[in-house]
Amino acid sequence: MIQGESERSYVMVKPDGVQRGLVGEIISRFERKGFQLIGLKLFKTPKELAEEHYGELKEKPFYGKLVAYIISGPVVCIALEGPGIVASARKLIGATNPLNAEPGTIRGDLGIDVGRNVVHGSDSPENGLRELGLWFDDDELIQWDQHMTPWLK
Ligand code: TYD
Ligand code: MG
Repeated sequence: MIQGESERSYVMVKPDGVQRGLVGEIISRFERKGFQLIGLKLFKTPKELAEEHYGELKEKPFYGKLVAYIISGPVVCIALEGPGIVASARKLIGATNPLNAEPGTIRGDLGIDVGRNVVHGSDSPENGLRELGLWFDDDELIQWDQHMTPWLK
């Protein structure tokens, strides 16, 4: 561990990202940042899982469309671990509406539509664990030694 407590985040390439061939680009950004990949799969989402994942948004007017979009094609489920991963992944992903997302962020570089914003990232360490529990079985998460050579010493 480089600094601070290690955390886990659930990151997902949404169906538009998969359809547009952006999977490698998106995974690459997290890898290059230095976070550790501990789970990865292409997945066709059951409706009940999409509803549960976005359960906090049930009352929002866009909830129905959001669920329909998430199950419209395969997603790529990504489990990441590292110190500060949750907040850092949100920074790399950028603002919810891609039109407001800074250039250099995934949504800022790759999207224009809030309803097709390419990627998901957990919004708190608690939700990171909750969402990983929803999308991955325990035996799909791999503990491995990343051999992190300290870059500067
Ligand atoms: P939210 O959790 O608020 O955003 P984020 O993904 O940045 O954590 O909303 C979940 C998803 O709902 C969001 O990624 C895209 C969709 N959404 C809409 O379609 N319309 C909206 O007005 C908002 C706020 C979100
Ligand atoms: Mg959210």
